[in-house]
Amino acid sequence: MVQFKPFEMDSIPIEEQFMNWKEIVKPPYNKKSVDAYTRTRVILMNGIENASILMSHAIERMTVDPEIKRQMAMMRRVDSMQQTVDWLNPANQSVIETTLGYEQVAVDLTSNLAKNEPDPYVKQTLDFALLEDFDHLYRYSCLYDYLEGGNYDSIVQGKTEVKAARPTVAHHRHPDETMRKHYDKDTADIKTKMNYLTIVAGEQQTELFYKTQGNMYSDELARQLYSEIADVEEEHVTLYGLLGDPRETMLEKSAHMQLCEAYIYFSCAQTETDPRIKAIWEDFAKMEISHFENCARLLEKYEGRDISDVVKADVIEPLVVFEPNKNYVNKVIDEQLDLMPSNMEYKRLGELSDEWASFKFQWKMNEADVPSKEVVSKASSELAKRDQAKNIKQFKRQLAERTQNVMASQREKMMSHP
Ligand SMILES: [Fe+2]
Ligand SMILES: [Fe+2]
Ligand SMILES: [Fe+2]
Ligand SMILES: [Fe+2]
Repeated sequence: MVQFKPFEMDSIPIEEQFMNWKEIVKPPYNKKSVDAYTRTRVILMNGIENASILMSHAIERMTVDPEIKRQMAMMRRVDSMQQTVDWLNPANQSVIETTLGYEQVAVDLTSNLAKNEPDPYVKQTLDFALLEDFDHLYRYSCLYDYLEGGNYDSIVQGKTEVKAARPTVAHHRHPDETMRKHYDKDTADIKTKMNYLTIVAGEQQTELFYKTQGNMYSDELARQLYSEIADVEEEHVTLYGLLGDPRETMLEKSAHMQLCEAYIYFSCAQTETDPRIKAIWEDFAKMEISHFENCARLLEKYEGRDISDVVKADVIEPLVVFEPNKNYVNKVIDEQLDLMPSNMEYKRLGELSDEWASFKFQWKMNEADVPSKEVVSKASSELAKRDQAKNIKQFKRQLAERTQNVMASQREKMMSHP
């Protein structure tokens, strides 16, 4: 496959990047014939654009220099026009169908990033959250069956498995448990920095989508399930977001973000099977290269730094590819189903101390019925029985027993020391 060499690529001057209204809104794909991974690329690129725009707004509000503000506004306006890649999703694709696409992105993107992640702690964090998004795909597949009588396979097309993993009921952890260590900006590989921005973008967009679309259903259980899983995505955005080194300057972060946009568009272009959409990815990759070059000029002017000393590589590899990862996911399920975060490390459920803040937190959050559990009972028996797999049942029993014991001993303590 071709390599991504950002310093050798063609770019389009930024003044030539503005589009007219007819160019901005592109005709949607056909939901019946689209390849599942074309849909995931569309969803991911919308997330990347959104992340770039949100980051640029944050920087503009914390910057005094008018020239930096002006340059940010210029690049951001183009990114905002590009964000209409989201309009490639057709109107007849229901919210829950698009949602299955979002979780398919999460599963196959996270797997691909984890497989190629050089930093062991970042890789571990990707594997950890992978099992949660994988479980979300299953819960939403149950909702699709219940709400619309839909078959998840019409969306995932056999490329991604649908079954329970670490159950969503166990994802609701105390905010303290979302804390993570960050990579070191001076020693981290550029691939780690790209993976970091990509996964944060995907998770952030997923959270925003669930929070803005979950109210589109009148069904009470559907509304609650969206709210429950959106809350887990908030955890994911936090724990992934903290992997980034906060000591990187704003201009450095901005240069990485534009490079990431170029890298992911370029990756999408190499694997896209729809020629019309492939041309969009190719075109937008060239636009991003000029945003990246613009950021490089800002870094030089305001911080006296050469971009090649920041990126420290001529090639970023491998490319980010959407492809089936069934064996990889099953291996992570076998090895890591009962992992839990504690004090910024990962431990087995059996190794957690009684003081683990999430026992009490989960007790509170899950005290009334839990939508991600309820939705299984509404789905077909064939789908529902996947929640009864031996490893899943065993994990749920272990967590429930442990939580009950911890809460009982805490109550006892309170009664003896009122
Ligand atoms: Fe962009
Ligand atoms: Fe998810
Ligand atoms: Fe997630
Ligand atoms: Fe951009």
